Amino acid sequence: MSDHLLGFHYRFVAGEGKDTLLLLHGTGGDESDLLQLGRALWPAANLLGVRGRVLEHGMPRFFRRLGPGVFDEADLTQRTHELADFIRAAADLHRLDSERIDAVGYSNGANIAASLLLLEPGVLRRAVLFRAMLPLQPKTVPDLHGTAAFVAAGRGDPQIPAEGTQALVELLSASGAEVTVHWVDGGHGLSQEELPPVRAWLAGSGMK
Ligand code: MLT
Repeated sequence: MSDHLLGFHYRFVAGEGKDTLLLLHGTGGDESDLLQLGRALWPAANLLGVRGRVLEHGMPRFFRRLGPGVFDEADLTQRTHELADFIRAAADLHRLDSERIDAVGYSNGANIAASLLLLEPGVLRRAVLFRAMLPLQPKTVPDLHGTAAFVAAGRGDPQIPAEGTQALVELLSASGAEVTVHWVDGGHGLSQEELPPVRAWLAGSGMK
C-alpha cells in the first residue's frame, strides 16, 4: 500500500538500522519498482520508494523532457526542490536520520538524484547513479565535500551518451564529491554482476 505526502506517492519499508535508501525509478516505473533492488543492495536499510509526479504518455517520471536526453531545465529545477522537500518531510514523519539518506536511482531516477546532488547539496549523503548523465549545468558549483557517488554506466547504452555520464563525473568530482565510476559492457538495462560492487561500496565508502 502506498502512502501520500506533499503530492508524492511513496512506500516506506522500515529496516533495522539508521540508514535509509531513497529509491528513484526509471521512466514508467513507480514507488515499488526498486524495493527489491534496495533490499538486495542493503538488507538492513530503511527503504523509501517514491513515484515521480510527471506523466509522459501515462508513464511516471521525475521531470519533463523535451526529447530523448533533452531536459526541461526549469521543470527539472522545480521538481528537484519539490523532491528535496518531500525527502525532508518523509524523514520527519518516519523519524529518519536525515544525515544518513542515500539515493539509489535508475535512469530518469538517477538523473534527478544527480540533480539533487547539484541543486540541494546536503540532502543526500551518497548516491548510486545507475545510467545517469549530467542533467543540467548548475548556476554555481555546489560544495559536495563529504558526499559520495557511485556512477554505474553501460558502454553500449543507447539512451545515456558516454559524454553525458563523463560530464556528470567531472562536475561531481570538481565539486569535491568522492566519485567511483563503474563501466560495464552492457546497455541501458542493469545486470546482476553490477550489484556486488555497489553493495560493497554502500557497506564501506563515505560512511560517517
Ligand atoms: C531521462 O529522461 O532522464 C533519461 O533520458 C533516461 C530515461 O528516462 O530514458
